[in-house]
Amino acid sequence: MPIEENNRVRKKVSIIGAGQTGASTAQRIAQHGYSDVVLTDVVEGLAEGKALDLQESAPIVGFDARVTGVTTSPDGAGYEPTANSYLVIITSGVPRKPGMSRDDLLAINQKVITTVVQSVVRHSPNCVLVMLTNPVDAMTQLAYRVSGFPSNRVVGQAGILDTARYKTFLALELGVAFQDIDAYVLGGHGDTMVPLPDHTTVGGRKLTALLSPDRIDQIIERTRRGGEEIVKYLKTGSAFYAPSAALAEMADAVLLDQKRVLPCCAYLEGQYGINGLYVGVPVKLGAGGVEEIIEFALSTDELGALRRSADAVRGLIDAMKL
Ligand code: APR
Repeated sequence: MPIEENNRVRKKVSIIGAGQTGASTAQRIAQHGYSDVVLTDVVEGLAEGKALDLQESAPIVGFDARVTGVTTSPDGAGYEPTANSYLVIITSGVPRKPGMSRDDLLAINQKVITTVVQSVVRHSPNCVLVMLTNPVDAMTQLAYRVSGFPSNRVVGQAGILDTARYKTFLALELGVAFQDIDAYVLGGHGDTMVPLPDHTTVGGRKLTALLSPDRIDQIIERTRRGGEEIVKYLKTGSAFYAPSAALAEMADAVLLDQKRVLPCCAYLEGQYGINGLYVGVPVKLGAGGVEEIIEFALSTDELGALRRSADAVRGLIDAMKL
């Protein structure tokens, strides 16, 4: 819903969590210039400071978005400035430390996300919710349950990032431009993700005709461990440049009603033989959120891998006792 604030009719995007990914996402979306951004965090002054700093880059970069920061309390108070957001992106939570799996984060982030979603929904009952906090498939399912929203308005980011990592490694290997690789990585955002080499093309040529099966397997393995590779380098945090780029791409798709076909964590009701679960699949993303689940014709092996990935996600949902 567009807001009218001092005659401004731009759509509002609220970003919950002003950490590495939230702040970086705010920067990307603000620089696109067509929506206002509200950034929040529970750490006193963090969101205000980053928002003001970002706003002060506007005259240099040349964008016209208003960027506001607000400190909220962990019990969910202070969300008024997020009211009537068209899109809310949730990055709040604890990132992975070295040696920690995404699933270890489950219990900690379940508590955070429950309170955050309740507060967001109270002030923006018509928004599209985009989840990033890990383990993202489980957190998206949790947000769906807590929000009471229709499933099309709750979507998670995972597949765009996983696919971008896969494309990056392929482009570097093949010496072609990154954007000339066409590929999708489906499934849960974890060790069971499902890259689809048979559906991968490089400037129109099939990947399987360009690289040996062994080399493709090595690249798939690196993709699976892509998040871990970054965590090992950073030691005190996890990836945020590519995740924020993925979130900004989803924001563009929704705010500009682009009808992009993107791999996202979406609610399946029988598609791919999976029912009542959020899993990474190609979707059409537009102003209404997930406007269509796109069903690829998968081989028996690919379908089996996707269902195994879904089983792993279901294990997390069971652990949350949703
Ligand atoms: N409300 C708002 N913000 C919160 C809350 C809360 N209840 N709880 C924590 N936060 C804030 C933290 O204060 C921190 O600033 O969320 C921010 C998270 O930022 P980082 O620690 O820098 O983590 P980041 O790298 O951005 O990752 C965020 O995305 O990729 C996933 O696994 C990652 O779950 C993690 C999330």
